[in-house]
Amino acid sequence: MLNDLDKLKSQAIAELQSITDANSIEDWRVAYLGRKGKLTQILRGLSTLPIEERKAVGAAANDIKVLLDEELNKRHRAIKEASLDGGAQAIDVTLPGRTVPLGRLHPTTQIIRQINDAFTSMGFEVVEGPEVESDYYNFEALNIPKDHPARDMWDTIWISRDEASPTLLRTHTSPMQVRVMEKRQPPVRVVVPGRCYRYEATDATHESIFFQIEGLAVDKGITFADLKGTLYEFAKRLFGAERKVRFRCDYFPFVEPGVDMSIDCFVCGGKGCRLCSNTGWIEILGAGMVHPNVLRGVGYDSDIYTGFAFGLGVERIFMLKHGIDDIRLFYGDDLRFLKQF
Ligand code: DAH
Repeated sequence: MLNDLDKLKSQAIAELQSITDANSIEDWRVAYLGRKGKLTQILRGLSTLPIEERKAVGAAANDIKVLLDEELNKRHRAIKEASLDGGAQAIDVTLPGRTVPLGRLHPTTQIIRQINDAFTSMGFEVVEGPEVESDYYNFEALNIPKDHPARDMWDTIWISRDEASPTLLRTHTSPMQVRVMEKRQPPVRVVVPGRCYRYEATDATHESIFFQIEGLAVDKGITFADLKGTLYEFAKRLFGAERKVRFRCDYFPFVEPGVDMSIDCFVCGGKGCRLCSNTGWIEILGAGMVHPNVLRGVGYDSDIYTGFAFGLGVERIFMLKHGIDDIRLFYGDDLRFLKQF
């Protein structure tokens, strides 16, 4: 019996020395020291031996168990060290790490945040509104009655033309002017970023889905000078402190007077180039003094309160800033484009 134990010891140690990986070590442990392992079985069988032999074999088996445990630990350590430091399964610490792909904000989100920041620092609040809108808010309440030719300015995606409640995907963010004024009393100062929809043949400057930011300020004594000052400040923040601005008359049914605002071309400094079509000016938004009909429609007294409103195309602002010539790039999901910003 003692002989058998000796053999078992030498065999176990020889096997252990030839092991080079952690999995085989575990197999070895199960085979010798596990619940049904060879040494465990011998220890279990002790009770069947005569008392004298039992003592001797028991003591020897225990010694071997302690020795094998020690050897097992040593081998474990040796394999671990070898894998860090040479050895068959060495870890090459000079290999480049696995990169964790990091997402980023979409250009539209980035520019919306910049524009919001410019206006919130001037006291405006950011609010949002529904993309599915009623005919009333999108047109009627903005001084664009049924059959008015101004409706032709918008190619509209209708959800329902049901006479009782015509519904559409909003063609602009202007309806939120009305929704906000219905809920609040002046002073009102909000900007409204949001997605808009038009039934449009897409090309380099037109998308059927795009973003606008609407602005509205209403209070006692607001004048065209406030409009100019606010939008001039905005233009300088986004396009540089040395920008000049130009206002020209334009027509939008919900403002009177209505204007478009241009900035002097920041590529050629106003001399004329491709970006500004040789005019020296780049149009960036529409604006005006809120039409008395719109104010009256929400129950404001248009003799007491006045206000200004503006609307701008979000992608257009980003395109101008970064020299992008095709709006379709924004939602084409081409990472080569998106990753640049
Ligand atoms: N809603 C207009 C559009 O989509 C843009 C606009 C022009 C908004 C003038 C305004 C404004 O608030 O005063 O073309």
